[in-house]
Amino acid sequence: MIPTLSAIKKNYYCCEMTIEDVKIIELPKFTDPRGNLSFVEQLNHIPFEMKRTYWIYDVPGGEARGGHAFKKNEEFIVALSGAFDVIVDDGLQKKKYTLNRSYYGLYVPVGLWREIENFSTNSLALEFGSEHYSKEDYIRKYDEFLKLKSDGKI
Ligand code: TYD
Repeated sequence: MIPTLSAIKKNYYCCEMTIEDVKIIELPKFTDPRGNLSFVEQLNHIPFEMKRTYWIYDVPGGEARGGHAFKKNEEFIVALSGAFDVIVDDGLQKKKYTLNRSYYGLYVPVGLWREIENFSTNSLALEFGSEHYSKEDYIRKYDEFLKLKSDGKI
Protein backbone atom coordinates (compact mmCIF):
# COMPACT_ATOMS: atom_id res chain seq x y z
CA MET A 1 0.00 0.00 0.00
CA ILE A 2 1.29 3.47 -0.83
CA PRO A 3 1.44 5.61 2.35
CA THR A 4 -0.51 8.86 2.33
CA LEU A 5 1.25 12.19 2.74
CA SER A 6 -0.24 12.65 6.20
CA ALA A 7 1.01 9.18 7.24
CA ILE A 8 4.46 10.08 5.97
CA LYS A 9 4.35 13.35 7.89
CA LYS A 10 3.27 11.58 11.09
CA ASN A 11 6.13 9.09 11.00
CA TYR A 12 9.01 10.99 9.52
CA TYR A 13 10.31 14.50 9.60
CA CYS A 14 8.55 16.34 6.88
CA CYS A 15 10.97 17.96 4.54
CA GLU A 16 11.22 20.65 1.99
CA MET A 17 8.62 22.98 3.44
CA THR A 18 9.36 26.55 2.38
CA ILE A 19 7.99 29.93 3.29
CA GLU A 20 5.57 29.44 0.37
CA ASP A 21 3.81 26.85 2.56
CA VAL A 22 3.12 29.42 5.29
CA LYS A 23 -0.45 30.66 4.99
CA ILE A 24 -2.58 33.43 6.44
CA ILE A 25 -6.01 31.95 7.09
CA GLU A 26 -9.02 34.19 7.57
CA LEU A 27 -11.30 33.02 10.35
CA PRO A 28 -15.06 33.43 10.61
CA LYS A 29 -16.10 36.72 12.15
CA PHE A 30 -19.56 37.46 13.49
CA THR A 31 -19.78 41.19 13.97
CA ASP A 32 -22.32 42.12 16.56
CA PRO A 33 -23.11 45.33 18.43
CA ARG A 34 -22.73 43.28 21.63
CA GLY A 35 -19.16 42.36 20.66
CA ASN A 36 -17.65 40.35 17.82
CA LEU A 37 -17.10 36.59 17.79
CA SER A 38 -14.61 34.43 15.89
CA PHE A 39 -13.75 30.75 16.14
CA VAL A 40 -11.43 28.06 14.79
CA GLU A 41 -12.04 24.39 14.04
CA GLN A 42 -9.38 21.76 13.59
CA LEU A 43 -9.10 20.24 10.12
CA ASN A 44 -11.15 23.14 8.88
CA HIS A 45 -9.53 26.52 9.51
CA ILE A 46 -6.59 24.86 11.25
CA PRO A 47 -5.20 22.39 8.69
CA PHE A 48 -4.10 19.75 11.25
CA GLU A 49 -5.36 17.88 14.30
CA MET A 50 -4.33 19.91 17.31
CA LYS A 51 -2.94 18.38 20.48
CA ARG A 52 -1.89 21.53 22.28
CA THR A 53 -2.75 25.16 22.86
CA TYR A 54 -0.57 27.68 24.60
CA TRP A 55 -0.34 31.44 24.78
CA ILE A 56 2.34 34.07 25.22
CA TYR A 57 1.50 37.19 27.21
CA ASP A 58 3.07 39.92 29.39
CA VAL A 59 5.97 40.22 26.97
CA PRO A 60 8.25 43.09 28.00
CA GLY A 61 9.05 45.67 25.31
CA GLY A 62 11.82 44.63 22.94
CA GLU A 63 11.70 40.91 23.79
CA ALA A 64 11.50 38.15 21.16
CA ARG A 65 10.23 34.59 21.56
CA GLY A 66 10.60 31.36 19.74
CA GLY A 67 13.87 31.43 17.81
CA HIS A 68 13.67 27.79 16.74
CA ALA A 69 12.25 25.23 14.31
CA PHE A 70 10.23 22.08 14.90
CA LYS A 71 10.79 18.66 13.39
CA LYS A 72 7.18 17.49 13.69
CA ASN A 73 5.08 20.22 15.26
CA GLU A 74 2.88 22.28 12.96
CA GLU A 75 1.58 25.57 14.32
CA PHE A 76 -1.31 27.94 13.95
CA ILE A 77 -0.79 31.36 15.53
CA VAL A 78 -3.44 34.00 16.28
CA ALA A 79 -2.96 37.51 17.70
CA LEU A 80 -5.93 37.33 20.06
CA SER A 81 -5.08 40.80 21.30
CA GLY A 82 -2.60 43.45 20.18
CA ALA A 83 -0.01 42.83 17.50
CA PHE A 84 3.33 41.12 16.86
CA ASP A 85 5.50 40.00 13.96
CA VAL A 86 6.17 36.37 13.06
CA ILE A 87 9.31 35.89 10.98
CA VAL A 88 9.48 32.63 9.08
CA ASP A 89 12.68 31.41 7.45
CA ASP A 90 13.24 28.34 5.27
CA GLY A 91 17.01 28.71 5.14
CA LEU A 92 16.88 30.46 1.79
CA GLN A 93 14.26 33.14 2.29
CA LYS A 94 12.63 34.97 5.18
CA LYS A 95 9.21 36.56 5.38
CA LYS A 96 7.63 38.72 8.07
CA TYR A 97 3.94 38.46 8.89
CA THR A 98 2.40 41.12 11.11
CA LEU A 99 -0.53 39.66 13.03
CA ASN A 100 -2.81 42.35 14.42
CA ARG A 101 -6.37 41.03 14.03
CA SER A 102 -7.97 38.25 16.08
CA TYR A 103 -9.76 36.86 13.00
CA TYR A 104 -6.61 35.88 11.11
CA GLY A 105 -4.39 32.90 11.84
CA LEU A 106 -0.94 32.08 10.53
CA TYR A 107 -0.26 28.47 9.60
CA VAL A 108 3.41 27.53 10.01
CA PRO A 109 4.33 24.03 8.78
CA VAL A 110 7.15 21.93 10.23
CA GLY A 111 10.77 22.53 9.37
CA LEU A 112 10.79 26.31 9.27
CA TRP A 113 12.75 28.60 11.56
CA ARG A 114 10.41 31.09 13.23
CA GLU A 115 10.70 33.96 15.62
CA ILE A 116 8.06 36.19 17.15
CA GLU A 117 8.99 39.78 17.95
CA ASN A 118 7.79 43.37 18.12
CA PHE A 119 5.02 42.55 20.59
CA SER A 120 2.69 45.46 21.31
CA THR A 121 1.72 46.29 24.89
CA ASN A 122 -0.77 43.75 26.26
CA SER A 123 -0.54 41.55 23.17
CA LEU A 124 -1.71 37.96 23.47
CA ALA A 125 -0.33 35.31 21.10
CA LEU A 126 -2.41 32.13 20.98
CA GLU A 127 -0.73 29.09 19.43
CA PHE A 128 -2.14 25.73 18.46
CA GLY A 129 0.24 22.83 17.93
CA SER A 130 -0.16 19.50 16.18
CA GLU A 131 2.04 17.73 18.76
CA HIS A 132 2.33 17.49 22.51
CA TYR A 133 5.22 19.46 23.99
CA SER A 134 8.51 17.68 23.45
CA LYS A 135 11.86 19.32 23.90
CA GLU A 136 13.34 16.79 21.45
CA ASP A 137 11.15 18.27 18.72
CA TYR A 138 12.98 21.60 18.90
CA ILE A 139 15.90 22.67 16.74
CA ARG A 140 17.34 25.61 18.66
CA LYS A 141 20.61 26.18 16.85
CA TYR A 142 20.33 28.04 13.57
CA ASP A 143 23.44 26.32 12.16
CA GLU A 144 21.91 22.92 12.88
CA PHE A 145 18.66 24.04 11.25
CA LEU A 146 20.52 25.11 8.09
CA LYS A 147 22.40 21.80 7.97
CA LEU A 148 19.24 19.69 8.40
CA LYS A 149 17.48 21.84 5.80
CA SER A 150 20.25 21.62 3.25
CA ASP A 151 20.49 17.85 3.82
CA GLY A 152 16.74 17.58 3.12
CA LYS A 153 16.08 16.11 6.59
CA ILE A 154 13.48 18.67 7.63
P1 TYD B 1 9.69 27.64 24.52
O1 TYD B 1 8.90 26.96 23.46
O2 TYD B 1 11.14 27.30 24.63
O3 TYD B 1 9.52 29.20 24.33
P2 TYD B 1 10.25 30.17 23.30
O4 TYD B 1 10.73 29.32 22.19
O5 TYD B 1 9.23 31.16 22.91
O6 TYD B 1 11.37 30.80 24.04
O7 TYD B 1 8.98 27.40 25.89
C1 TYD B 1 9.46 27.99 27.09
C2 TYD B 1 9.33 26.98 28.22
O8 TYD B 1 7.97 26.61 28.39
C3 TYD B 1 10.09 25.70 27.93
O9 TYD B 1 11.14 25.60 28.86
C4 TYD B 1 9.13 24.58 28.16
C5 TYD B 1 7.82 25.20 28.50
N1 TYD B 1 6.74 24.76 27.58
C6 TYD B 1 5.97 23.68 27.95
O10 TYD B 1 6.19 23.04 29.00
N2 TYD B 1 4.93 23.31 27.16
C7 TYD B 1 4.65 23.95 26.00
O11 TYD B 1 3.68 23.60 25.28
C8 TYD B 1 5.48 25.06 25.61
C9 TYD B 1 5.24 25.80 24.35
C10 TYD B 1 6.51 25.43 26.45
